Amino acid sequence: MQTMITLFKNIKELIQVRTEPISFISGKEMKILPTIKNAYLVVENGIISEFGSMDVCPNIEVDQLIDATGKMILPSWCDSHTHIVYAGNREGEFVDRINGLSYEEIANRGGGILNSAKKLQETSEDELYEQSKVRLEEIMQLGTGAVEIKSGYGLNLDAELKMLRVIKRLKENYPISIKATFLGAHAVPSKYKDDKQGYLQMLVEDIMPVIAKGKLAEYVDIFCETGYFSVADTEFILKAGKQFGLIPKIHVNQFNSIGGVEVGVKYDALSVDHLEVMTELDMEVLKNSRTMPVALPSCSYFLSIPYTPARKMMEAGLPLALATDYNPGSTPSGNMNFVVATACIKMKMTPEEAINAATINGAYAMGLEKEVGSITVGKKANLLLTKPINSYGFIPYSFGTSQIEDVYLKGKRIDFV
Ligand code: NIG
Ligand code: FE
Repeated sequence: MQTMITLFKNIKELIQVRTEPISFISGKEMKILPTIKNAYLVVENGIISEFGSMDVCPNIEVDQLIDATGKMILPSWCDSHTHIVYAGNREGEFVDRINGLSYEEIANRGGGILNSAKKLQETSEDELYEQSKVRLEEIMQLGTGAVEIKSGYGLNLDAELKMLRVIKRLKENYPISIKATFLGAHAVPSKYKDDKQGYLQMLVEDIMPVIAKGKLAEYVDIFCETGYFSVADTEFILKAGKQFGLIPKIHVNQFNSIGGVEVGVKYDALSVDHLEVMTELDMEVLKNSRTMPVALPSCSYFLSIPYTPARKMMEAGLPLALATDYNPGSTPSGNMNFVVATACIKMKMTPEEAINAATINGAYAMGLEKEVGSITVGKKANLLLTKPINSYGFIPYSFGTSQIEDVYLKGKRIDFV
């Protein structure tokens, strides 16, 4: 194969450089964001091969030379929690909430997840792919270079598998890294209204074997919450998932702390996500684990619910990742730039902490920390080239305005126009 070399030179600041490979960053260390000012970066066949200060920039022949004078480069965002494969939208419920109904009240009336499931069941696989790819392309343009996508709007064998096949097709057709999660236990479908156990059993006996055989997902998820699935249900699903080789990543502590974090840690969950409500015990349990807590500030923003207590968690020595939760109900937005800004503005994270949380820690939360999430030799050249800016703090500061000029995935500039 012919070698393709790209050299970025005169980079005002190269951000999140890690010469030693790391898995994730916790506590006080999250305040540290290593950078090189006036830097160069070499990409060889889509992989970061070299970087350093311009003083030692190599004099090599390259296929592409990019002068980044005045601009910064950082690793593309790692969004470890989304539901971007869905059908239709729910702006009617958005208006219902403006008029006073709560997210829970809407769900109890048969809206919410069940509303999206009905739409998805009625949508063909091709149509679902077409709708979903629009969102995937959108988030790539917004700077996301690795994403986790969940099922969970099918809620029966056919529709759950349809979702997972769509995720697989997206994975095959786009340069962004994608991980798939089976979230059959997202809500109890009407058919099983009085037989939740029957539904859970169906997920384990009928769907999980097909997923394992077809390698359609790597992770298993469940919405552990009052009115959805209990701690015992969570244990049941995580245990079964493990038997099929599915690693847990769970929705937990969105509205209530009912013991789900503990079960997540017990089953070695890769991540526990939402955490708008956190008790001392929840934090204690996470301390001696390898489980990544994931905050979803756009969800808090959209539903007007509390933000994950990031400061408290980091002060307790915990790591934290940030993700979008892009979905039609609680977060119809996949903008990681907004997530980073909101984490700074509402959760009082510093730009350094927020960038660490949205890159390397996000990569860890989807098992991709060896491939993406930092500027490290051997990692994919999934990069953001900013517009000319004075400091990286300008990125969250100028919330609502994109500071990204170009996005590179596997070393290639993405261009959808
Ligand atoms: O992560 N909380 C559970 N699931 C999604 C929202 C689902 C929906 O409303 O469609 C979430 O917020
Ligand atoms: Fe979610």
